[in-house]
Amino acid sequence: RDSKVNQNLLEAHSFINYKKNLENVEIVKNRLNRPLTYAEKLLYGHLDDPHGQEIERGVSYLKLRPDRVACQDATAQMAILQFMSANMPEVATPSTVHCDHLIQAQVGGKKDLARAIDLNKEVYDFLSSACAKYNLGFWKPGSGIIHQIVLENYAFPGALLIGTDSHTPNAGGLGQLAIGVGGADAVDVMAGLPWELKAPKILGVKLTGKMSGWTSPKDIILKLAGITTVKGGTGYIVEYFGDGVETFSCTGMGTICNMGAEIGATTSVFPFNASMTDYLNATGRSEIAQFAQLYSKDFLKADEGCEYDDVIEIDLNTLEPHVNGPFTPDLATPISKMRETAIANGWPLEVKVGLIGSCTNSSYEDMTRAASIIEDAGAHGLKSKAIYTISPGSEQVRATIERDGQLKTFEDFGGVVMANACGPCIGQWDRQDIKKGDKNTIVTSFNRNFTSRNDGNPATHAFVASPEMTTVYAITGDLGFNPITDSLKDANGNEFKLAEPVGLGLPPKGYDAGENTYQAPPADRASVSVVIEPTSDRLQKLTPFKPWDGKDAERLPILIKAKGKTTTDHISMAGPWLKYRGHLENISNNYMIGAINAENGEANKVKNHYTGVYDGVPETAAAYRDSGKKWVVIGDENFGEGSSREHAALEPRFLGGFAVITKSFARIHETNLKKQGMLPLNFKNAADYDKIDPQDEVDLLGLTTLAPGKNLTLRVHPASGAEAFDIELTHTFNNEQIEWFKYGSALNKMGSK
Ligand code: F3S
Repeated sequence: RDSKVNQNLLEAHSFINYKKNLENVEIVKNRLNRPLTYAEKLLYGHLDDPHGQEIERGVSYLKLRPDRVACQDATAQMAILQFMSANMPEVATPSTVHCDHLIQAQVGGKKDLARAIDLNKEVYDFLSSACAKYNLGFWKPGSGIIHQIVLENYAFPGALLIGTDSHTPNAGGLGQLAIGVGGADAVDVMAGLPWELKAPKILGVKLTGKMSGWTSPKDIILKLAGITTVKGGTGYIVEYFGDGVETFSCTGMGTICNMGAEIGATTSVFPFNASMTDYLNATGRSEIAQFAQLYSKDFLKADEGCEYDDVIEIDLNTLEPHVNGPFTPDLATPISKMRETAIANGWPLEVKVGLIGSCTNSSYEDMTRAASIIEDAGAHGLKSKAIYTISPGSEQVRATIERDGQLKTFEDFGGVVMANACGPCIGQWDRQDIKKGDKNTIVTSFNRNFTSRNDGNPATHAFVASPEMTTVYAITGDLGFNPITDSLKDANGNEFKLAEPVGLGLPPKGYDAGENTYQAPPADRASVSVVIEPTSDRLQKLTPFKPWDGKDAERLPILIKAKGKTTTDHISMAGPWLKYRGHLENISNNYMIGAINAENGEANKVKNHYTGVYDGVPETAAAYRDSGKKWVVIGDENFGEGSSREHAALEPRFLGGFAVITKSFARIHETNLKKQGMLPLNFKNAADYDKIDPQDEVDLLGLTTLAPGKNLTLRVHPASGAEAFDIELTHTFNNEQIEWFKYGSALNKMGSK
C-alpha cells in the first residue's frame, strides 16, 4: 500500500495519494465519529487541513486539494490568460487542455477538422504554446471530447478532479469525484491554492435489480431528472449504491454521472467496482487497478451504516426507456406515453435528425448497441428516415469502431460520422435541412436541450434519449414509435419488430489508439514563448478590474429584469460566440442577449433608464458603464444554470455590472460572479421579485459591514414616484469571498499576496 503509482501513463511525476487520502479520512472520521459515505471519503480525503476544517454538510466551505485540472479549449483560453497574469513559471497541479469545443460540424469528420484547424489556428497555437510553456498536457483538435479523454487516460478511483466544463462529473463512472468549475477556480488550483467548495449534501440513489431489453444507463438519469427536476440536485453529490451499481459497464456509469449536471448536482459518483477494474485494464492501467484494489476495503468504499441526506430508489427491473424534452432535460416521458404526450402538447412527431455521440454517450458500448439496431433494420432493407449523425467521443473510440466495422455500418445506413468533438452538442452545427424558425423535432443522445442549443433555432424541439432510442427514431422518423410494442414494415411490406439492442462494454480486440493526438510539455520550457497578437479579435490580455470603492451603491438602474429560465446559454450564448472566448471585450457583446425581459417578454430589448430608448442588453450596459453608472440585474430561479462558463460572470463585470439579485442561483455561476468581484444576492422572500419594476432604481445598503450570514438591504425607488421601500437580501459570501469583492476580483486578491 506504500507504492508509488503514477496517476496515468503520460506523466512521470504525478502520483496517486491513497495513503495520504486514507490518513485524512481517518482523521475526519475520528472527529465526526460516524460512518462516511463514499463521496464524503473522497472529499475529506482531499482536505487541505483535515484537523482544523469545519465540516457540516450543506453549511461549511471545504478547502480541498484536487489531484488534477482539465480544461476544454473554449474555457481554457480565459483560464490560461488568467493564470498568465499570476506570473508563475508552471502549473502547481497536473493539468491538461483539450481541443474539442471549437470544431463545427458541417460535412463530416475529416473536412470539418481541417477547417477548424485553419479557422482556429490562432487559438490552438496560443493554447499549445501556453501548455508547453507552463507544463500542461495538450490534446490537439481531433483527439476527442474532454470527458472521454479524461476517462480513458486520467481518471482513477478515489481521485478528485476539477474541470472547466459542466460535464466533468462524467469521470464519476470511474469512481472519482470530478467537479465542473469555472475557469477562475481552475486558475486557483493551477496556481497551487486550495480549492473551495461548500460541503455538499449527499443524495443517495439506490439502484436495485438489473436493466434489460431497450433500457440503458441513460434512462436512469433521464428518469432521475424527471424526479428531481433541473434544480433538485443543487448542493448535492449524487452517490449511487445498491446491488444495481454492479450491473453496468464503466462507461455506462460515466453516462449516468455525466448527466447529473442536468439536475444541478455538484457531481455524481459510483463506488469502486469490478467494471472499473475491467476498464482500467482495457485502457492499459492495470497497475492502477491493482493499487485501487489494495484500498478497496477502506478508502474506496462507503462505510457500513453511512447516512445520506436524502435517498431516491430506482428499480432497474421495471425501468422503461425515457425521452426528455423538449427545451429542458427534466421533462421526462416514458416511451410508451410519448405519442399521446407529444400530440397533447403539439410537439412535432416527425423526427428530422437523430444525433448520437457526445461526451455523454459515445463509448464503445454505445456505438456497438446502436450499430446492432441498424444492422437489424438493414437486414430488413431499411435505411434511416431521418438525418443521422455520429459524434465519436475520442480518437480511440473512432479508430476502434472503424477497425471493428461499426463505423461502416453507420455510413452504409446513411449516417454521417462527425469529428471527434462536441459539434452539434454545443451548437457547433451548420444545420442545412431546415430554415431558422421552422418548427421541427430532433432527438439526440446528448445531455442538454435548452432552446436553440444545438442548431440556434428556437423552434427546434430537441429531445434527449439513449443512443439506442435515438437510433430507433432515426430509423422510423417517428417520435411516437415504441420498439417494445410497435412493428415496422420491411422492404417487402412485411411487419417485423426491431430486435433488442446488443453491445459490448469493452472491445474484445482491445482499443485501437488511432492517431497520436497528444502533445507532452517539452523538457526545455524556458525557451518557449506564448504569443498574443495585440490586433487579435480572438485573444486579449486581461486588465485587472477596479477594487470596490468602499461605499454602498445608490440609485443604480436595473439593466434587465429577466423572467423565467436564464441559463448560461442565455447569459453568454455559445455557437458563433465561442470564437471570442479569449477576448473579453468582443464576447461581452453577447451578454444576456438570450434572456427574456420581464417588461416586454422579448429577448435583447431593454429600455435605457436615462434616455428611454430601447436597445440591446450589451449596448445598454456599455452605455451605463461609459457614463459612469453601475447597474444591477434582477433574475428568476436557478439563475445561471447550465454550464461553468465564467464569461457569464466576466461579461457583466466588464460591462460595469455591480450585483445580480435573484430568487436563486446555480452554484457554479454564483461562485463565478463572486470570483469576478460581482455581488450575487438573493431575495430573502422570493415573492419580492414581483415587487420590482424594471424601470425602478435601487440602492444596495449594508456593504460596508458585509459579513457572512448578514443580510443586506435593497432599497427600491419606484419609477412610478411612489415612496421608496426596502427588500431584504441574503447572500452566501464567506470571509475570503468578501475579500474578493473588496479587491475587485479573486485574481486581484491573489496578485496582492
Ligand atoms: Fe462537449 Fe456537449 Fe459534452 S459540448 S463536453 S459534448 S456536453
